[in-house]
Amino acid sequence: MDAQLTLLPGDGIGPEIVAQAERVLSAIGEKFGHSFHCQTCEVGGSAIDSVGTPLPEETLDACRASNAILLGAVGGPKWDDPTASIRPEQGLLGLRKELKLFANLRPIKPHNVLLDASPLKREIIEGVDILFVRELTGGIYFGESGRRQHEGTEFAYDVMQYSEPEVERIVRLAAVAAQGRRGKLTSVDKANVLEASRLWRQTARQVVEQDFAELDYGVELVDAMAMHLISRPADFDVVVTGNMFGDILTDEGSMLPGSLGMLPSASVGQSGPGLYEPIHGSAPDIAGKGIANPLATILASAMMLRHSLNLEEEAGLIENCVENVLDQGHRTEDIAAGGPSIGTAEMGSLVVEQIQQQ
Ligand code: IPM
Ligand code: MG
Repeated sequence: MDAQLTLLPGDGIGPEIVAQAERVLSAIGEKFGHSFHCQTCEVGGSAIDSVGTPLPEETLDACRASNAILLGAVGGPKWDDPTASIRPEQGLLGLRKELKLFANLRPIKPHNVLLDASPLKREIIEGVDILFVRELTGGIYFGESGRRQHEGTEFAYDVMQYSEPEVERIVRLAAVAAQGRRGKLTSVDKANVLEASRLWRQTARQVVEQDFAELDYGVELVDAMAMHLISRPADFDVVVTGNMFGDILTDEGSMLPGSLGMLPSASVGQSGPGLYEPIHGSAPDIAGKGIANPLATILASAMMLRHSLNLEEEAGLIENCVENVLDQGHRTEDIAAGGPSIGTAEMGSLVVEQIQQQ
């Protein structure tokens, strides 16, 4: 296979972790005889610094022309001024919107050998296997927003809005995913307070009743869900929710496997290239130190091979190799629980060696 990939390392630890995923991809390419043509482009804060915008036209064009996109992370304290009108995050949000990546898949499944790295008790996280499906191009992230003055006081507003078709397509995608898993779907909203959530709940129910009646379907309010996620996470299979609730719940969910550094995510649309990234941020506190955990990005590259390039065997191999490296006891600092740890590049090398040996 010949595939065109766009790499967007971004800010903070982004370049370090994407470099390791690139090595893994090239090892896979060699082993299976694929040519992955990788083009690296700028996005986020580093793009602001070099060309003045977080999503340069050239980057967007390259993404559009590629089969898939692998992103590191965007943002950092350097660009965090709340009064700034140009922000790194606009690069990522712009990509999601422009490429119509309405569905964000965030699987959460703690690795067996890391069960004790979680701040939660082993008996709570044993058996956890959740797929979060977060709506990604609507809701409060993309509603009207602004500031206004009224009687000498400044007001700010962000509108949360959803249309029926937006809810329908994400619920449909989540329902299909549930069919291929344990057949359980939970929709999360705040329908006791928000009108946008009431439309969400009504639409989700219609979709499920019409076309997915065999699913074990339930609804939760987002505040209760935040609680269930740490008290009985093993009860959930596929969880579908809006943009902001999904943002918050998936960070919470990331603590189940013990570290944000382990979790990949895929953002996909109806057609066109998907965007793959770790769910963690740019971790500016450890950037440049060579200690970041590259496994989430390496696992994101596996999701990329599976979802955008249909290379199931190759994706599975990467996942097995990561599992093996962990089984052998190798840990980056974030998952070492105070024990001995290795650096970013060493972890990348171990995965590459595993791939070569298989
Ligand atoms: C995420 C991140 C982004 C979001 C930021 C960086 C814009 O937190 O992907 O979860 O809020 O969606
Ligand atoms: Mg987030």
